[in-house]
Amino acid sequence: MDKLIIEGARKLQGEIRISGAKNAALPLIAATLLAPGWHVIHNVPDLRDTRTILALLETLGAEWKREGSTLLVKTDSLNNFEASYELVKTMRASILVLGPLLARMGKARVSLPGGCAIGARPIDFHLLGLKKMGASLDLEDGYVTASVKKKLSGGTIYFDVPSVTGTENILMAAVLAKGETVIKNAAREPEITNLVDMLISMGARIAGKDTDRLTINGVKSLKPAEITTIPDRIETGTYLIAVGTAGGEANLTHCNPSHLPSLIEKLRAAGLTVKDSGNSIYVSRPAKVQSIDIKTQPYPGFPTDLQAQLMALMSLATGLSVITEAIFENRFMHVAELKRMGAEIKINGNSAIVKGIAQLKGAQVMATDLRASASLVVAGLAAHGVTEISRIYHLERGYEDMAGKLKALGARVRKEKE
Ligand code: UD1
Repeated sequence: MDKLIIEGARKLQGEIRISGAKNAALPLIAATLLAPGWHVIHNVPDLRDTRTILALLETLGAEWKREGSTLLVKTDSLNNFEASYELVKTMRASILVLGPLLARMGKARVSLPGGCAIGARPIDFHLLGLKKMGASLDLEDGYVTASVKKKLSGGTIYFDVPSVTGTENILMAAVLAKGETVIKNAAREPEITNLVDMLISMGARIAGKDTDRLTINGVKSLKPAEITTIPDRIETGTYLIAVGTAGGEANLTHCNPSHLPSLIEKLRAAGLTVKDSGNSIYVSRPAKVQSIDIKTQPYPGFPTDLQAQLMALMSLATGLSVITEAIFENRFMHVAELKRMGAEIKINGNSAIVKGIAQLKGAQVMATDLRASASLVVAGLAAHGVTEISRIYHLERGYEDMAGKLKALGARVRKEKE
């Protein structure tokens, strides 16, 4: 296992290129299961999670090759319909193969993801939705086995709260179903729009793009897609926050600032200069950062995937900040680690009260999940002394070449074997 060593308290300066979005690439890759022929997906980040979903597709009989950041995937000879525990346990998003496998093969067996570091994270919406579309479901031995006699059929599906992968799974199931499917209270994250664009380019009939009501009229068959993965808004946000925390200025290119409305507004309120120029974004920290309050919400609200990183920024701000996590229970795993670096944080239910201090101090800390790890990197860049972050495989799940990008911004970081 590798650890990341950061010599902190150095301002960041420079320009980096933002990669394609992990959370968009995963459903785009899963959607290749819907049609034979070579699919072409551009701007795919090379991450542990994208490798995991490709390994999963290989076990189903798919072929793939990478040409730079372009991925070619062919799913003509599918000969298996099971996603094993070994793969699902390393990445919950493996559940994304359930909808497309059921639509294309009429059956799917997927290991249940179980609990994870950031709460129970059930998949009941995915299952209820598929049931409404006529699937028979069996839960046994930690697996869900889904099958359908002839074809899935359309239905009306209402999500109690908008679920990102739930919406994606039902979308992928519905495009080949008989009749009309309506998803009410659908999630509206930009990654879903990216998937809708891919499915439409394959011949799917979907109305309501970018809204919380998606109407899908099933078609008999689909053709292979050519699509570009949208830029990673969470990676973009993480580097914006890193510059805000460590100080300095940076230009992030190949990104889409319009996908970060709430973060940009909050960073400006905290005193950062953020200039959006279409597909790049400039950030600098001219003065002391002011405390701000945030509450995580579904898109376009403040993303839960940036909550931990923003907490690192607030731990060095002037004043008190209340950070409320309203999407996942138990998503404060980073708090104990930030406190090891000197942060003053109290947890009260699903809120964290952060009292800004003048200086964080480097420490040995442990990464517990992907975004918690990112918050420790942000804190480590600003902290005085050396921060050693162990278990950085979490970071490698979602950040392409993070050490390289930080070095390009002038940070002193290196990877070492633990
Ligand atoms: C996706 C993202 C993840 C992000 C999250 C919220 C991917 C691969 N992952 O995760 O990075 O943190 O959205 O923006 O895109 N829920 C249920 N039952 C379900 C499904 C969800 O109760 O069947 C609840 C969850 O517990 C949570 C809320 O719905 O409280 C939203 O979760 P959801 O959007 O489904 O998260 P993921 O799709 O797993």
